[in-house]
Amino acid sequence: MKDKTIHVWPQGTTINPDGALQLGEHDVRDLAAEFATPLFVLNEDDFRARARMFREAFQTAFAEIGSDVDVYYAGKAFLCSAVARWVVADGLRLDTCTGGELAVAARAGVPGPKLGLHGNNKSDAEIARAIDMGVGRIVLDSLPEIEQVVAAAKRSGRRVSVMVRVTTGIHAGGHEFISTAHEDQKFGLSLADGSAMRAIESVLGHRDELELLGIHTHIGSQIQDSAAFIVSARKLLELRALVQQRTGFLMPEVDLGGGFGIAYTAVDEPVNVPALARELASSIDTLCTELDTPVPRISIEPGRAIAGPSTVTLYRVGVVKPVTVDDTDCRVRTYVSVDGGMSDNIRPALYGAEYAAKLANRQSNKLKVRSRIVGKHCESGDIVIPDIDLPADIMAGDLLAVPATGAYGRSMASNYNMVTRPAVVALRGAEARVIVRRETEDDLLALDIG
Ligand SMILES: Cc1ncc(COP(=O)(O)O)c(C=O)c1O
Repeated sequence: MKDKTIHVWPQGTTINPDGALQLGEHDVRDLAAEFATPLFVLNEDDFRARARMFREAFQTAFAEIGSDVDVYYAGKAFLCSAVARWVVADGLRLDTCTGGELAVAARAGVPGPKLGLHGNNKSDAEIARAIDMGVGRIVLDSLPEIEQVVAAAKRSGRRVSVMVRVTTGIHAGGHEFISTAHEDQKFGLSLADGSAMRAIESVLGHRDELELLGIHTHIGSQIQDSAAFIVSARKLLELRALVQQRTGFLMPEVDLGGGFGIAYTAVDEPVNVPALARELASSIDTLCTELDTPVPRISIEPGRAIAGPSTVTLYRVGVVKPVTVDDTDCRVRTYVSVDGGMSDNIRPALYGAEYAAKLANRQSNKLKVRSRIVGKHCESGDIVIPDIDLPADIMAGDLLAVPATGAYGRSMASNYNMVTRPAVVALRGAEARVIVRRETEDDLLALDIG
């Protein structure tokens, strides 16, 4: 594909001789005809190659400094039992944050020790379920939760491995990060006000019930470089050294969370994961030498950077409407309505997230005109892409493809306006198979018990 957005499409994406978008061996026109639209089309090879690339890049970089890395795929980005099986088969672990995500992991047969459980408000039932499944770790998010997990451990007769989630004051996203002393958010235990240290001491006071693996932090999303990760690693390593001085206990692990950025549009640069892993390993090595502590085992939790780029959403165009607007450089804007919208991708409405899109069923040599891609929902903010140049002859029945929708698309999908949530089809070679089926009206009505 000769296109400035080439890097935002899954591997193997081309334009075929008919001028249609070709995802690996599949013409999008055939996919739309067979599986209907809107449709999430996930390239399994792309997804799994990224999962393995994260594991290999981090393990190689940290082996150089005598350490090892566990990569937890953050299931919140997109989870179904096929995905859970893939990540485990590719040597990753799975990060969950609710009973529902644990249920998917259980259905997929993920071994308990390969699972982590997060969450700022875990219920007793979720904690009991996690312990019952023998999860590898529960990430503690508050002081009351320590008592909750201790009680659950006593009830189950099992010792539970835990980490303490620390808020370090670092917040990152894109190329920017800020570092503040104080926190004003719901996750974790503050370094600044001493709650993180209190939580660690409390966990160490319950050694019969809890095994302290280490400390965790997650600093943001769409992070493009290593700077913020290095500052947050320093804060965690300093805390680890302080805990050792105060208690004599050296925590074996440090989790740096997820948040690795991807390219959504032509202007975004995807993160160079191997380079980032090497920079992090080298900085952590230096920091540990400064602090005179051994390098810990590291874990990371990428979600978006594995799932996001693997998936393309296919929409069918419906109403195309020229609208006269006041904008000085744009007198008419073409509103192109598609058959999905905020119910399958809430990110533009929620965070102003930006996407690319392409006419996918044919080529057009017509002039491109200022357009806005909108959904079908009863909400004027139901916008997929607010400002995009599309061929002037775009018409009802055309297909539009939106790349990089694999993370926080289907997983945040809703039934707003009683629409049924789209299917997810996984492509592997010549095979296209449904891994999450489209909802039906019967599914919707089954919940409505009158
Ligand atoms: C604790 C934790 N880990 C990992 C992630 C995954 O982040 P991303 O998908 O940006 O890599 C998140 C996302 O919110 C998170 O809260």
